[in-house]
Amino acid sequence: MPDEGPRPPRPPHPSQAQGGPRHGAALSGAVALVTGASTGIGRHLVEGLAARGMAVAGLARTEDRLRTAMAEVADATGARTLAVAADVTDRASVEAATAQVVAELGQVDLLVNNAGLIDEFEAPVWEADADQWWEVVSSHIRGAQLTIRALVPWMVLRNRGRVVNIASGMGTRGEPDYSAYSVAKTGLMRLTESLAAALEGSDVRAFDVAPGVVDTPMTRSMHMWQGFTDWTPPERVVEIVAAIAAGELDQWSGRFVRAGKDDLDVLRSTSPQDAARQLRLRPYGGADPLG
Ligand SMILES: NC(=O)c1ccc[n+]([C@@H]2O[C@H](COP(=O)([O-])OP(=O)(O)OC[C@H]3O[C@@H](n4cnc5c(N)ncnc54)[C@H](OP(=O)(O)O)[C@@H]3O)[C@@H](O)[C@H]2O)c1
Repeated sequence: MPDEGPRPPRPPHPSQAQGGPRHGAALSGAVALVTGASTGIGRHLVEGLAARGMAVAGLARTEDRLRTAMAEVADATGARTLAVAADVTDRASVEAATAQVVAELGQVDLLVNNAGLIDEFEAPVWEADADQWWEVVSSHIRGAQLTIRALVPWMVLRNRGRVVNIASGMGTRGEPDYSAYSVAKTGLMRLTESLAAALEGSDVRAFDVAPGVVDTPMTRSMHMWQGFTDWTPPERVVEIVAAIAAGELDQWSGRFVRAGKDDLDVLRSTSPQDAARQLRLRPYGGADPLG
């Protein structure tokens, strides 16, 4: 349900009170859809984008939690929000949810594929439960492909739009105990690169944004992060996604950027060359015939 009806004037959201985002005006009135919006990074993204003036739809499976989150964001920011409950791996649900977003908020300018699962137990590939393993892979890859399939055709028609796939450092290397997640995030990076390549020449672009290590229900559930304290502030993720939405990082389309490590001003002023920040085989030396 959209958050509708007259609202009393509100004090500025904290991000606006501090002077606001550099290019907030570019986002005002634009529409975002964030998957996995009910908690963790998705919840932070919804709030940060709403505070920058976007109308934001959030998607997740558990309806009550999602509705509560979207209503809280509407209250905190004064932005228009919409909760659409769906499983990103269910094609019919994704098609219905995206159609509802377009009908109620308008065409989507920013799609953030953030929903996804992690391996339930730390275990090598051969010990992992086969069904849960595929559920993890599917949540990231099938989920992103279905939302892209539903929304990018309209972006292409309008020659306007940005897709952000939430990536992970674990997609850049093998992980002995989180193989499904590693496979999923590697595949997602290739999906981003393929999408960006197919969109070349248009004003529709696609990016991998790795959030660092953010304190969320997912990281709290992972043995490897127990006792960890050096969390990436979620605002670092939000500001990169907002800059992408505002068209400030277009030269990074098809490539990987990392919140908490990449400086936004450096990203803005850098044009990556060749296959920088893309997945490639590294040659073993000058004699490597694949080099
Ligand atoms: N936290 C980190 O440090 C970190 C680092 C690197 C990458 N990431 C990535 O960032 C994203 C968010 O991570 P997080 O830590 O915020 O995770 P989280 O706390 O577990 O939140 C996941 C969100 O996704 C939703 N979701 C899960 N499966 C779904 C499905 N099939 N369909 C629709 N919604 C689904 C969940 O709601 P429901 O369960 O109600 O559906 C929830 O809203 C993930 O892609 C993750 O891989 C996180």
